[in-house]
Amino acid sequence: MDHFLYRDGVLHAEDVAISDIATEVGAPFYVYSSATLTRHFRLFDDALDWTDHLVCYAMKANSNQAVLKLLGDLGAGMDVVSGGEYMRAKAAGIPGERIVFSGVGKTRAEMRLALEGGIRQFNVESEPEMHALSEVASSMGAVAPITIRVNPDVDAKTHEKIATGKSENKFGIPISRAKEVYAEAAALPGLEVIGIDVHIGSQLTQLEPFGQAFDKVAELTGVLRAEGHDIRRLDLGGGLGIPYERSNDAPPLPQEFGQLVREKVGHLGCEIEIEPGRLIAGNAGLLVSEVIYIKQGEDRQFMIIDAAMNDLIRPAMYGAYHEIIPVVEPEAGAEQVKYDIVGPVCESGDTFAKQRVMPPVEAGALVAFRSAGAYGAVMASEYNSRPLIPEVLVHEDQFAVIRARPTFDEMINRDTIPSWL
Ligand code: LLP
Repeated sequence: MDHFLYRDGVLHAEDVAISDIATEVGAPFYVYSSATLTRHFRLFDDALDWTDHLVCYAMKANSNQAVLKLLGDLGAGMDVVSGGEYMRAKAAGIPGERIVFSGVGKTRAEMRLALEGGIRQFNVESEPEMHALSEVASSMGAVAPITIRVNPDVDAKTHEKIATGKSENKFGIPISRAKEVYAEAAALPGLEVIGIDVHIGSQLTQLEPFGQAFDKVAELTGVLRAEGHDIRRLDLGGGLGIPYERSNDAPPLPQEFGQLVREKVGHLGCEIEIEPGRLIAGNAGLLVSEVIYIKQGEDRQFMIIDAAMNDLIRPAMYGAYHEIIPVVEPEAGAEQVKYDIVGPVCESGDTFAKQRVMPPVEAGALVAFRSAGAYGAVMASEYNSRPLIPEVLVHEDQFAVIRARPTFDEMINRDTIPSWL
């Protein structure tokens, strides 16, 4: 459920008309609903209320400071994957003890940064990384709490670019070698082994692969405890999918996910962490764009809009589907036409949808992409020298620009011309 509904013939974000935001901010822009972000965080938090837990929002999905502050105030922890994300989380007021550090390529500088600023745990993904962290922590006289991310070799049944739990993926250590690697970790100075981490992929629309992975983690917990490791925390990753296409079957709900966790690992008495990103932010955001031209091609109509692949890369990169709707509510029973919906960037890959059936719109109309709150703004670039588009946060009847659109000068002045030119 989200908080983007037609009211009085116009799409609203909570109590604010999208057209009013467009008048003030100018298209294209991202807009997020505080109520939806709050609701989605609470769904996960409630789904785990049967045990000691922390929902660590995977901030790669949407790392705007305002979004982080909102979630942090609700009690969220953060899952970070770079020094930049760590600094963003700290800047938004998230205490180190609520930040977990994931990722296959943490540098020594990033490790130092997190150890200095405080960290809940590192999710270690390889033996070389484990040795590096041991060295860094020891040199600082610190002890780094760690879990080791295991790769359970489970098919997440999602897009190949976002599946992470198969043995051919770069993530984690093979679960078959876990016993050996944990023994090595326990013997290294500067590390304290506290648990196990697993994350098998993103946009999972079935519970079954999670179940398979959690079974393997439960079994491993027993094996490692028998070896003398004090396994007291399980980080079960993120990955629960969202309904991009309303006509498709809805993916499982956080409550069902929470029940599965309870069923599979509840008996172990571990503290549970999860790292959802998409389900918290995805349906909490729209990308709003203005139609520049309707162009008649040989055999099709192109809707050329002022947003492009640089603003929302998901359709070009993953063939992802986003529902695209007019901001002015179509009349009931309005005719349906077909458009190829494209942006102004100079490549054919800049196509959001082909032969999309929707009510007719005219140049100057606003359209909204649903489910654009996760992996939208964060993946944007300035390709074709298109300045990053603004982000807006709505709270009931108020809205605020939470990232302003840079001017052309601001964009250009980030470059420097060397003295010899
Ligand atoms: N934890 C780890 C270690 C991850 O790698 C990810 C996502 C998450 C948690 C959060 O997964 P989520 O709950 O959001 O599914 N750009 C792609 C998605 C990439 C996901 C990367 N890792 C997209 O637009 O679909």
